[in-house]
Amino acid sequence: MSHKKYIKLNDLVTTFENDGVFIRSNTNGVGIKTEPMIMTILAFFATPKSKEDFETEYGTEASPLMNELIESGLLVEENLQNETPAFFGFFSGLDVHRRMLADRERLSKYREAIFKTVKQGDIVVDAGAGTGILSIYSAQAGASKVYALDNSEMSSFIPRLVAENGYEDIIEVIHGDFGDVVLPEKADLIVTETFGFWVIDEGALPDLKKCAENNLKEGGVIIPNKFSLYLAPVVKELDNLTSVFRDRHDKVKMECLAQEAEIQSSVNKLESVDIGKEIKVGTYNILNSEDLIIESEVTVEEPCEALCAYFTLHLAEGTDLSNAPGLPTTSWKQATLPLQLKSSTNKLHLTITHAPENKRAISLDITGDVQKNVRIS
Ligand SMILES: C[S@@+](CC[C@H](N)C(=O)[O-])C[C@H]1O[C@@H](n2cnc3c(N)ncnc32)[C@H](O)[C@@H]1O
Repeated sequence: MSHKKYIKLNDLVTTFENDGVFIRSNTNGVGIKTEPMIMTILAFFATPKSKEDFETEYGTEASPLMNELIESGLLVEENLQNETPAFFGFFSGLDVHRRMLADRERLSKYREAIFKTVKQGDIVVDAGAGTGILSIYSAQAGASKVYALDNSEMSSFIPRLVAENGYEDIIEVIHGDFGDVVLPEKADLIVTETFGFWVIDEGALPDLKKCAENNLKEGGVIIPNKFSLYLAPVVKELDNLTSVFRDRHDKVKMECLAQEAEIQSSVNKLESVDIGKEIKVGTYNILNSEDLIIESEVTVEEPCEALCAYFTLHLAEGTDLSNAPGLPTTSWKQATLPLQLKSSTNKLHLTITHAPENKRAISLDITGDVQKNVRIS
């Protein structure tokens, strides 16, 4: 009997039908048609329980129903409750890595920081290695051992890149979640680039914290160690936010999509002339931010149709990577959010938290002179 604990997915939706119930998770794309009794079992697994706990409560004759739920993916091991399988699928394809490898600004700043920080003989963890590019920089900079950790299928290519570059004796690839991996030795340094358009939206911070607790020496360093988040009103008209749904030439009505677009963040390339006065939301430590709630009172001092968000990753002393408008373009460009502000002084209270049902999403709440809730994933 395994003592693994299982829990139901967070976002289950149930439809009652004549011949049973249909239960599905939209985030994970799984579902089953089954008998209503299964609802009781799901309620039992609302908190983590082992198979043994279940059989003590319901008897072994009910085990097939529990196993059906595990096989369907509606009951998962407790650490996977808020995981989104599609996330690692996305990083398994070459397209996203092509874009990131073409981003010279991103890579030159990371390379500079790695060369400033890695000392001869250091042990390095590359948390979220992707193609392994930052592992290779670390080996070039003098690391004696680099652990390249990645949970996507892209990690199967890393050994070939490592061989092409002659670092087989230095770089070791481990396929897995860097929040779970425990290495045979502690590292001097963790390097990571696991940041989305709003920095924390890829959900890496809790896993980075666990990775550091398990694998970083006392006094070890993480690149980046801090990030700063900024907002600015967009003063240029952005025709791709909602007008494509509203100003149509083909007599098709799309108001429902226009309304949805009002509460979604999108990506745009902005110049410094496109934005008004910058607002600094705050600076946060990477390793102290696993349960990060960003709360800030901000004043937007212009009327605008949208806000944009951008950030600075503090990689090393004197080496910052920023995607602010006006600086060299990065693969992040800028995140933009429709938000109509009519007055010349708009006081807003901002709360950004991890979404409870999906660890790879954030919830952005705006209250004050306007109200808005946005889900960013
Ligand atoms: C933005 S990419 C960066 C890849 C590479 N480091 C680079 O700079 O080009 C982030 C990578 O981190 C991986 N990743 C994110 N969270 C992870 C986790 N918890 N465990 C393992 N890999 C993770 C993804 O699979 C993806 O390949």
